[in-house]
Amino acid sequence: MGTWLTRARTASLAGHHRFGAWALALVAAFIAPTELKAQTTFSDDETARIAALGPWPQSVPADPGNALSGQPWAEALGAQLFRDTRLSGSGQIACISCHSPIQGFSEPRRVALGAKQHVRNTQGLWDIGLQRWFGWDGGADSLWAATLRPMLSELEMAGSIDHIANRFRGEQHVIDAIRSHGQDPAALSDTEFTVFLSKSIAAYLRTLTSPQTPFDQFRTDLLSGNLAGQARYPEAAKRGLKRFIGEANCVVCHVGPKFSNGEFHDIGRPFFTGVGQVDGGRYAGIQRLRQDPFNLLGQHTDNPSDSDARKTRTVTLGQSNFGQWRTPSLRNLSLTAPYMHDGSIDTLRGVVDHYADIDPTRLHTKGEAILKPMTLSDVERNDLVQFLKTLSVAERD
Ligand code: HEC
Ligand code: HEC
Repeated sequence: MGTWLTRARTASLAGHHRFGAWALALVAAFIAPTELKAQTTFSDDETARIAALGPWPQSVPADPGNALSGQPWAEALGAQLFRDTRLSGSGQIACISCHSPIQGFSEPRRVALGAKQHVRNTQGLWDIGLQRWFGWDGGADSLWAATLRPMLSELEMAGSIDHIANRFRGEQHVIDAIRSHGQDPAALSDTEFTVFLSKSIAAYLRTLTSPQTPFDQFRTDLLSGNLAGQARYPEAAKRGLKRFIGEANCVVCHVGPKFSNGEFHDIGRPFFTGVGQVDGGRYAGIQRLRQDPFNLLGQHTDNPSDSDARKTRTVTLGQSNFGQWRTPSLRNLSLTAPYMHDGSIDTLRGVVDHYADIDPTRLHTKGEAILKPMTLSDVERNDLVQFLKTLSVAERD
């Protein structure tokens, strides 16, 4: 709008456009005064809330129970394995088949298609090392367990431990890696061998840190009082940000530098996956976690006394966990459409509409009273979308 205004004014001054001055008056009459002054300001309290959404990037903790975490040779091996179709039962599916790097390590399908039809959307993997529970339902308590899971899942790669171990036992680069870790490859059981591969992939995934975004730049400029820098951040995004940290209550769950509290909530998305079939969300996740021989309480963890295992020991299961999903990070959203655990919303505008028009009777667990319908105009909804877009470097839509 600003550019057009300037152009209209220039044209009328130059006398080339006889409707220039008239057009300018008309435009001025239709734009609210705030729009002309272009100034959304933030109070001290709001500035403190914005400060809590950074800094970025964050340092990534080690993967619990994974002695290979942070080892450069393991990261390099993991990067190769991530692209290797031989980890799958059919020999045709690699991690990268679903987790595409140019799509934020997710994919445009609503729900994944692996060895069988999945019921869930492929999660993006940027910044995955900052999570403490993995999967939409938190069914894994470490990154290496979350990496082993798809290899063995019937819906995803449908591999088996002995097949995977046998396929890679003869690979020189794997043998070298195991030796460099001070172990004898021949002495490892098939399970230990396959766990070693999953820990290497997890070491690689931990290095995936997404870059700074226009929002991060604005936050820095706001905190340092750089007015020229602040002016470069779009006015619509500022208004959206104000609502995000304010009356829309989004920061209650999408909080901190990764825009997620890492916890599980019900936001009223459907949980039926077919006639008579439901996806239990966190409820199913806790059951899966407890039965998983590869959880942090099991014998394959490299550090049995790891204090991280406490979260697994103390997790409790309740009816309210039904229909809850892990709050997703909001970074790189422009790359990871469609949205939600079942990929049921195609656009960011669709997500904002879901929250604005939320049906409280759809919230099947109690206690999410944070979410209430909001009367938002078209412009106000678009403001939230514009803000969310500034949490990505590249834009797709
Ligand atoms: C068929 C598609 C498909 C393949 C192949 C696949 N994934 Fe996934 N990935 C998914 C889906 C779907 C989810 C969400 C699963 C859930 O919530 O149960 C997911 C989730 C994850 C997560 C958890 C992300 C988070 O935010 O918590 C990690 C880590 C992961 N995958 C890594 C891998 C690795 C490593 C491989 C290869 C060994 C792989 N995936 C292969 C589809 C796939
Ligand atoms: C009560 C906690 C909570 C609040 C408040 C909340 N969210 Fe969410 N958000 C979630 C959860 C949980 C999901 C995942 C739900 C699912 O997969 O079905 C989600 C999903 C999303 C997604 C999709 C991300 C993806 O990768 O699929 C976006 C975008 C989003 N929320 C934005 C917002 C905005 C904007 C607001 C404020 C209007 C907001 N959220 C308020 C918990 C919350």
